[in-house]
Amino acid sequence: MNLEGKIVLVTGANGGVGSALIKALLDKGAAKVYAAARTIAAVKELVQFNAERIKALRLDITSAASVATVAEQCADVNLLINNAGINRCESLLGLAGMEAAREEMEVNFFGTLAMCRAFAPILEANGSGTIVNVCSIIGLVNLPVNGTYCASKAAGHSLLQGMRAELAPRGIRVVGVYPGPVDTKMTAGQEMPKATPDQIASAILEGLELDAEDIFPDPMSQGVQEQLEKNAKQVEKQFAAMIPA
Ligand SMILES: NC(=O)c1ccc[n+]([C@@H]2O[C@H](COP(=O)([O-])OP(=O)(O)OC[C@H]3O[C@@H](n4cnc5c(N)ncnc54)[C@H](OP(=O)(O)O)[C@@H]3O)[C@@H](O)[C@H]2O)c1
Repeated sequence: MNLEGKIVLVTGANGGVGSALIKALLDKGAAKVYAAARTIAAVKELVQFNAERIKALRLDITSAASVATVAEQCADVNLLINNAGINRCESLLGLAGMEAAREEMEVNFFGTLAMCRAFAPILEANGSGTIVNVCSIIGLVNLPVNGTYCASKAAGHSLLQGMRAELAPRGIRVVGVYPGPVDTKMTAGQEMPKATPDQIASAILEGLELDAEDIFPDPMSQGVQEQLEKNAKQVEKQFAAMIPA
């Protein structure tokens, strides 16, 4: 895919990966990028980076009305990047496990599904559109300390596979992105090796340019993916052992 001239909508635009993606898209020659965030104020600084090509939008992906309004405002989009997500850092049996699981499913699964449903007709009308869903490597294997988040991202993985099959006959591509840990607000205070948001953004765009269907944008996710292909059960056991004392 050639990113030059594309009209893109990025959700979670004020987040670490979202804002890096928007700047990288401009570098690649995107004509217009809708920076969608829960408040306009959250993307004010980002818009100033290039006010001609970055357009601020208010969007809460868990609100049907908000999603419908944004779809009306953005009928020219030909690349949708579903990047918004939350991680409550809770285990399945943790005190707040039920609440965390519901909140994460609401954003990571239902919100992403609502965006795909709202934009499928727009992408189809604009011809050969693309949807990119930012999933996670721990959507492919459960890390118990983030057990509820992993379950929501696993649902997100299945969502993108099904969406890919349903949209292929309509000329719309669906691309999955499976990052390892990234240094953003989401992982603040967690000590571990992390990729930078800029590294993730540039690997995502490189993957799109190469027409990759699944993008593993950092060395950690690439390593886990290789191990999953060789012996998924062994990876499950390795991750299961990572329960803090
Ligand atoms: N960081 C990692 O280690 C990592 C690893 C793998 C995958 N990912 C995925 O990468 C994506 C980007 O995350 P990030 O690391 O950049 O985290 P981040 O900095 O926390 O950004 C998350 C973004 O999602 C937005 N968001 C949350 N709920 C929303 C809602 N209901 N409607 C619209 N926007 C909403 C947030 O907005 P507010 O600021 O208003 O909350 C924020 O802009 C997520 O899907 C995440 O799951 C992250």
